[in-house]
Amino acid sequence: MKAVVCTELGLPNLLKINEIEKPNVENGEVLIKVEVAGVNFPDALLVQGKYQIVLDPPFVPGNEVCGVIEEVGEGVKIAVGTKVIGLPPIGGFSEYVSINKNLVIPVNDEFDSLVGASLPINYGTAYYALKRRANAQPGESLLVLGASGGIGTAAIQLAHIMGLKTICAVSSDEKENYVKSLGANEVVRYDNTDLKETVKDLTNGKGVDIVIDPVGGKVTEQALRATAFNGRLLVIGFANGEIPKISLNLTLVKGISIVGVWWGRWTNTSPNETAEDFTELISFINDNKLKIVPKNIYRIEEAPTALENFLKRKNIGKSVIKI
Ligand SMILES: NC(=O)c1ccc[n+]([C@@H]2O[C@H](COP(=O)([O-])OP(=O)(O)OC[C@H]3O[C@@H](n4cnc5c(N)ncnc54)[C@H](OP(=O)(O)O)[C@@H]3O)[C@@H](O)[C@H]2O)c1
Repeated sequence: MKAVVCTELGLPNLLKINEIEKPNVENGEVLIKVEVAGVNFPDALLVQGKYQIVLDPPFVPGNEVCGVIEEVGEGVKIAVGTKVIGLPPIGGFSEYVSINKNLVIPVNDEFDSLVGASLPINYGTAYYALKRRANAQPGESLLVLGASGGIGTAAIQLAHIMGLKTICAVSSDEKENYVKSLGANEVVRYDNTDLKETVKDLTNGKGVDIVIDPVGGKVTEQALRATAFNGRLLVIGFANGEIPKISLNLTLVKGISIVGVWWGRWTNTSPNETAEDFTELISFINDNKLKIVPKNIYRIEEAPTALENFLKRKNIGKSVIKI
């Protein structure tokens, strides 16, 4: 079968598209024929050995897929032919992936695979962050940093479903147009305006209730300074490459909480709550409240480009590989 293989740690252009053996199906596992695989920023970090988890090559990256179960191992009650969203710990960028039965979510046959492969990581993370880590309440304001990116776009869409007002920070005209197409309530061009002052103006001097920060670097402190009393800053990631160091007096004087968010780890420790969130997310889709349209659909041969775009600050919206 065809797969994207990391044979040595380094930039995405080192990835190989190779023929490798179809995986075995062990007890308790299912073999998924992958139709679409989601691509995420962490994939670009993982292949460089720069992610929280470091793997020894060779390995096949890819942590979210949508496809059809082709074979099941002993002890699995899900029927062959069932369409599923899968969360492989590794191996998603390939024609087949074998994973534990507890890491799949059955969906209807009509469920769009492009949507299924776009949902888990970005929408799972953004929903967990807003619902469970920030305890976001309707009417609150949310500043989304890196708003046109994968996490950012999921946060905008889910925030609107949850009744929040969004202020979306972006760095180019193309990114601005994209977040406007998603219904951004306000846009801040943090490439050419002062983030703190603009956000303060947009909130009548009060500041925002919640910040979702997948970017890091200098904008984190600017966002914190534009946060309201009792606000929450959600630490999602450091796409900018720089981990900010914050003076804690900023949190004291305004009663601000800086809240860490590591969705993948939480899904391991809280499977019931994870399942509950997925049920809600899928119902948002089925009820037409949430419309997910991946902006970038790549062929498997284009996987290195898909990953490079994250590192070059070029990714906009959701990226997937159609297998
Ligand atoms: N905590 C978790 O559980 C979790 C889950 C998934 C992802 N993440 C992390 O979240 C971060 C963002 O992921 P994503 O999928 O949203 O990525 P993305 O689509 O590339 O979006 C990141 C955004 O960051 C901004 N940015 C600023 N400086 C950048 C730079 N030097 N390089 C790249 N982007 C830069 C860009 O927006 P502007 O150009 O508008 O500034 C970009 O749109 C990553 O660090 C990822 O590892 C964390």
